[in-house]
Amino acid sequence: MSDLAYEGRGTSGPPVILLHGFPVDRGMWRGQLAGLGARARVVAPDLPGAGHSPAPDSDTLTMEAIADTVVGLADALGFERFVLAGLSMGGYVAFEVARKHPGRLSGLVLIDTRAEPDTDEQRHGRNADAERVLSEGCGFFIDRMIDKWLSKDTLDKRPDVVHAVTQMARTASHAGLAATLRGLGERRDARPDLGAIAVPTLVIAGRQDAITPPEDMRAMAAAIRGAQLVEVPGGHFAPFEHPAEVNAALVSFLGHLG
Ligand code: MLT
Repeated sequence: MSDLAYEGRGTSGPPVILLHGFPVDRGMWRGQLAGLGARARVVAPDLPGAGHSPAPDSDTLTMEAIADTVVGLADALGFERFVLAGLSMGGYVAFEVARKHPGRLSGLVLIDTRAEPDTDEQRHGRNADAERVLSEGCGFFIDRMIDKWLSKDTLDKRPDVVHAVTQMARTASHAGLAATLRGLGERRDARPDLGAIAVPTLVIAGRQDAITPPEDMRAMAAAIRGAQLVEVPGGHFAPFEHPAEVNAALVSFLGHLG
């Protein structure tokens, strides 16, 4: 059983689960849902506390707990093995699935993410942000982050994209955001696990990503055996900003899976 809300497209081809970043929801995958349904069975859940999925009971939502929830969704859908694609926080969750449930994966796609944990300072900052979100909402966080999430081109020329990202963040549950912030701060160091990843892996880097820049993504890809790296236009939310380029990379990767 799984109580995650999700949206799916496609009835044949490899099962693919798409994990969104923070603090957005499955809406960030609209271009992938529209573009990949002819090639794969694509499912994009709202992770716990995001979009239409219920917020967790506890005040800290760990990446490990989210990973178990995602595997519960795969069970409910009858996906014995699946390709898991995660953007940023979705990537942190994908590392946990790869570590705890390696036999469930048939492929891994890591988009604009990192294997490093937070520093103490970053963790303290997340905890302070969690308190602030609970008392005043997400506006301050959006104001601080919007020009890091999106490329300058998107910010300057595509107000619809800026608005859509802002709306996803603004409508997220405050309890869900706070619990996730605390869980992000507590996440494990995934670097020691990279060498154990044994499934085909695609790394996608937004060339203008200010949060997880392409040089960091190149280093991460180099630590994963046989990983392929593709750079695409866009910032940290490249799949939402440039779906055609990201979909082309995904279609090519899916086409090469056995
Ligand atoms: C995300 O996009 O999921 C965030 O940048 C992750 C984070 O805050 O570390």
